[in-house]
Amino acid sequence: MKRILLIVGGGIAAYKAAELIRLLRKRGHAVRCVLTDGGAHFVTPMTLAALSEDKVYTTLWDLKDEAEMGHIQLSREADLVVVAPATADLLARMAAGLANDLATTVLLATDKPVLAAPAMNVRMWSHAATKRNVAQLRSDGITVLEPDEGPMACGEFGAGRLPEPDAIADAIDAALALAAPLPLGDGDPLASDAARLSGTHVLVTAGPTHEPIDPVRYLANRSSGRQGFAIAGALARLGARVTLVAGPVGLPTPPGVDRIDVETARQMADAVADALPADAAVMVAAVADWRVLPSAQKIKKGEAAPTLVLAENPDILAAVARGPGRPRLVIGFAAETERVVEHATAKRTRKGADWIVANDVSGDVMGGDSNTVHLVTESGIESWERLPKAVVANRLAQRIADALKGIA
Ligand code: CTP
Repeated sequence: MKRILLIVGGGIAAYKAAELIRLLRKRGHAVRCVLTDGGAHFVTPMTLAALSEDKVYTTLWDLKDEAEMGHIQLSREADLVVVAPATADLLARMAAGLANDLATTVLLATDKPVLAAPAMNVRMWSHAATKRNVAQLRSDGITVLEPDEGPMACGEFGAGRLPEPDAIADAIDAALALAAPLPLGDGDPLASDAARLSGTHVLVTAGPTHEPIDPVRYLANRSSGRQGFAIAGALARLGARVTLVAGPVGLPTPPGVDRIDVETARQMADAVADALPADAAVMVAAVADWRVLPSAQKIKKGEAAPTLVLAENPDILAAVARGPGRPRLVIGFAAETERVVEHATAKRTRKGADWIVANDVSGDVMGGDSNTVHLVTESGIESWERLPKAVVANRLAQRIADALKGIA
């Protein structure tokens, strides 16, 4: 059973909050409601209390509640805070960080994930100010659902309708699944560290990229994606929210990891930019350095062999390390076949990474199960013994947890 704190804003769609409570209860969740002053014009505390079978909180100034349950406690004891309907005004106050009523105070004080389901007039939804506020909230890590399109209570037509309660409940279940630290089974080497990374978002890239030559051919490399997938899985087991941007590989998604599949380096760069902000980025992908200026049609075998014209791909690691909203910890990998540590040390500075994990790929590492790595940081080089990729992943995940604790 999960506990949901549902903030009901003021709008005609507030009546759908009643149906949402019913659905969430049916799915086995406990729901406690905060009703804004605006919301109380559309639904009564009595309705919400009856459906949630709990007290409904309406004011910051209820001395009895502050004695029994302060707004801080109210905001912390839930697993997820949901705002539905989220009006234009409520979204604006959230984006500005105001705390001028119980709802916004709870939203500012919470340490839990927040999901907002907007509902407003189509013009209000498409207004530049609302767009700015939604973009701000999303970059603050809040999930803002897209409203539905259709006829509105005010007689206009367009985007701005509250999503159907079923769809909101699905989004709530998805957010809860992401927020929950994965249970660590007996014998898991990370068991003593469960939830060390809870509340953090870590971005991982993995696998090769494919750069099309024509509709049937591509340039690729031998990366299997195994090391990156193992790292993503280890980070999730430590409780991080993990976004894994994966090149074309046939590997299963590790439990609890949010996976985005891409094919080319440019798609990977876009997916990475979209996934930010993150507390840490671990760039394990073997990104193709060059792409081919592709032919629209299949190249036919002629007399002379064709010449491939190459263009340089964006350096995703360098862009993340030097770009705005830089994660607190940026980690690159360096696959080298000679002078491993020397090349990796130079790469760390050149790309602006905090750490480089250098691996010697002169043996059977590409596609194999083991890896010999050197961790190159500002304070020096640490050489790890040859280890299974899963153990390298666990060790690195623990080091990331140590480091994030140390970097405010
Ligand atoms: N990387 C990246 N984007 C690229 C190329 C590389 O994000 N276009 C990242 C990789 O994910 C890895 C690190 O940069 O974390 C090092 O990649 P590597 O290919 O070894 O570096 P290069 O700059 O290509 O250097 P080299 O000349 O050794 O190939």
